Amino acid sequence: MANVSTVYALALVLLNYIMQVHGTGCPVVECWFVQEKPGRGFPAAMSQEKSLMYVRTDPDSTGAESQQKPPADIDPTRIYHVTDSSASLCSSSLKSPEGSVKKPLCEINPFLPQPAVVKWAAPLTSSAQSPIYLQADWFSASLQGLDGQLTLSSVMRAPKGTNEPNVILSVFSTSTSIRSRLGVPVVLDCGFWMDASSPLSGLGFAVEWRYQFRGEGRLVVAYDGKGDRLAETTEEGAELDIPALHQTGNASLLLEEAQVRHTGTYICTAYLPYLLAQVAIDLEIEEPPSLSISPSPLPISYPGQTLSVQCEASGFAPLSLELSWEFVGADGGVQSLGEGGMSGHRQASDGTFSQSSRLTLDLGKLDLGRGGEVTCVAVHPGGTRRASTTLNIIGVSGPSIEDSMAMVAVALGLYGVIKLFSWMFGTSGPSDSDSKDKKDK
Ligand SMILES: *[C@@H]1O[C@H](CO)[C@@H](O)[C@H](O)[C@H]1NC(C)=O
Repeated sequence: MANVSTVYALALVLLNYIMQVHGTGCPVVECWFVQEKPGRGFPAAMSQEKSLMYVRTDPDSTGAESQQKPPADIDPTRIYHVTDSSASLCSSSLKSPEGSVKKPLCEINPFLPQPAVVKWAAPLTSSAQSPIYLQADWFSASLQGLDGQLTLSSVMRAPKGTNEPNVILSVFSTSTSIRSRLGVPVVLDCGFWMDASSPLSGLGFAVEWRYQFRGEGRLVVAYDGKGDRLAETTEEGAELDIPALHQTGNASLLLEEAQVRHTGTYICTAYLPYLLAQVAIDLEIEEPPSLSISPSPLPISYPGQTLSVQCEASGFAPLSLELSWEFVGADGGVQSLGEGGMSGHRQASDGTFSQSSRLTLDLGKLDLGRGGEVTCVAVHPGGTRRASTTLNIIGVSGPSIEDSMAMVAVALGLYGVIKLFSWMFGTSGPSDSDSKDKKDK
């Protein structure tokens, strides 16, 4: 009997799992419902309540709610049955694996429809009367999928007091942050979707990209889809694909050539009359350094000598660099030589940085054998780079008597050879005075 009930329990667990993962296709999303506390001063205090969104793609289908009872700690008025015909909310990256602590981020806020003030969206609400359609409960939901694979923001409308909103406008991107090398084209992905059955959707749209970095912002590009006009901006090398915008809602921003100054946050906003939704994408320009070692090659050295070597790292961004030194001996053994003395950094006109490290090698204290490779190692977010130079040490094991005598013997031998040659040429070869005589003639 016990066995049967165990099997039964296991089957239930499995079924529940299958339902959750594959059953409805759309997830149950845990959210925070965040709003201003009424009647407080400035800055407004915020309240935060647990909330739940049951998502379905059409209002007639049974959503995920039929399989699960809502948790007891959630106020029933904060449980929403959302219909999303675009199925954006059904993305697999919004489903947290069963038992996983990592959950998608979700926040719901009350939303107040109002005419846009920016020039490129103002024409959308040029007629002063606001439609009766706006009288409803409006929410905006911002979600971030697992592993930064999706960022999504939706504006939803629920007939008053129903808790059954429909998604009217969604803006989404497949990445919350991207990295790029210097000098290559970059695509900042953004798309938008609007509910074609909404009376607002036939009235036109507008799209805008803003840039923000350390509290400063500027307009990158803006497009009035109603008047088919691009706003004037100072930005160069940034484009929208206008036909794609109209045909598929592809609002991706194309940067022709990544530069250091492009590092920052990009905000993609889509406007419908009275509505807007936006997502933010971080762009980081990461370029690893180029290294050069000087002097290279190193002068032939002898024990007891002190050498100075410099490693210059240049053309990198961002400013986050660790330089260190290594020595690889003839036997393949690796020794760390430390960081050396780091210089301050300089910034070039293209925004990239350079920085150097000077290593002092005291061959009297270090045992580097007969020499080997001296390597500068640069660790940077864009990648690790290395540069090496060869160190030759002669007369190893200290200038012993034998070594000194050998060197003297070699020197004497060389002296003898030179003497011999000069004697040979001096007697049998043509002399300088001879050639001078010839020129004079
Ligand atoms: C949107 O357009 C960009 C650039 O043209 C392209 O790289 C991207 O794949 C498009 N996205 C979709 C979903 O079609």
